[in-house]
Amino acid sequence: MSSEEETSQTSSSSSSPPPSSSPLPASHFIGKKEDIVKSGRVTKLLNGCRDVLVLYHMGKLHAMDMRCYHAGGALENGDIEEFNGRQCIVCPWHKYKITLAEGEGLYQAVDDPTAKPLRTHWHSKGVKQRIHKVTEVNGDVYVTLNDSSEAIESDHYQTERYRTVFLKAQPKPKPKK
Ligand code: FES
Repeated sequence: MSSEEETSQTSSSSSSPPPSSSPLPASHFIGKKEDIVKSGRVTKLLNGCRDVLVLYHMGKLHAMDMRCYHAGGALENGDIEEFNGRQCIVCPWHKYKITLAEGEGLYQAVDDPTAKPLRTHWHSKGVKQRIHKVTEVNGDVYVTLNDSSEAIESDHYQTERYRTVFLKAQPKPKPKK
């Protein structure tokens, strides 16, 4: 892969239209890499049905479903931290940890509750958050949606029904007087 073309797991949004012809079939133009690097993270609705979060972290772009698999938390507001040597986004709602590269849910468990002192280890719940493919071509960033038919828990928060219910439940801004 050339230095001008880099693929990682990330996504983002953009303000300008894509170049005349996309070099990547079925991909979505997100924006200029320099803009994404500057903002750090961007959200974008793709295909009219998938809210995706694109992050730039430690030199890499990552893309994932925008709402946390646990209860739909706003991952765009989550901190990024390392756990057990893996970069994770920490959901701001209940602090679930999700690896940026694979979408795995990580948790820390006590190996033997009767042993003193207690010893804990990190474990994986498996892939819980849908990760999408990010490609950069000549400074333009594209996301290709992961359309695997395998159900992933974060899919639940990507339905039209959820979006409608969720948005209806949000407090309405008060009109200015
Ligand atoms: S909604 Fe993300 S941890 Fe609960």
